[in-house]
Amino acid sequence: MKPWEVLARAPAPDGGEFVLHHRDGEFVIRVRGQELMSSRAHGSEEAMARLASAALGAVPLPRVLIGGLGLGYTLRAMLEGLGADAQVVVAELAEAIVSWNREPLAHLAGRPLEDPRVRVEIADVRRVMRSAAPWHAILLDVDNGPAALTRASNASLYDSPGLAAAHAALAPQGVLVVWSAGPDERFTARLVHAGFTVETHPVRAGKGRGTLHTLFVARRR
Ligand SMILES: C[S@@+](CC[C@H](N)C(=O)[O-])C[C@H]1O[C@@H](n2cnc3c(N)ncnc32)[C@H](O)[C@@H]1O
Repeated sequence: MKPWEVLARAPAPDGGEFVLHHRDGEFVIRVRGQELMSSRAHGSEEAMARLASAALGAVPLPRVLIGGLGLGYTLRAMLEGLGADAQVVVAELAEAIVSWNREPLAHLAGRPLEDPRVRVEIADVRRVMRSAAPWHAILLDVDNGPAALTRASNASLYDSPGLAAAHAALAPQGVLVVWSAGPDERFTARLVHAGFTVETHPVRAGKGRGTLHTLFVARRR
């Protein structure tokens, strides 16, 4: 097997360093040797956008917030489910992730940042959620899920005040879709308590195989 090639390095928002690796068409971003994102499997990242589209239905002038960008798979899948009148804002904390999505990672998800419906903000999704509300859909894939955080500050997206803020930022009948590495009954209970009706969807990382992730689809009551 070929060795990994280092394509780029950039400072990470928490003070570490992102390292972009490539081998045989596969791209991986690591911090301190730990894999954060990979182009290997992205089934659940795309599935969250399909679930959001289905929940949105045919609302006119849909406004969608995606946090964060990652490798752009959720964004691409969301664009495919929306019409020409949609507006999609992507909130991404790391400037390097946005810049690498313009090049050299742009081809992975079909250059979604070039779509005229898309605007990127290099910012914490918590801030964008509040400042530019109301949203018809908010998609959160910023961490490993409500209970397995890589950034301690992201806990405030998934706790009760964070869910109340998401609820307040949604239009009536708006939908919040949350990616998680696994099921979390306490998170489901918090969503219900915050005023959402909740469905959970187990979804494979790959095409019908691979690790089982959980997607929470929470509709504003
Ligand atoms: C797992 S990746 C997202 C993968 C993405 N769904 C895709 O399709 O490739 C998580 C992303 O969220 C970003 N992120 C982490 N915390 C964030 C926050 N609070 N606000 C905005 N972006 C954040 C990370 O820098 C990273 O790019």
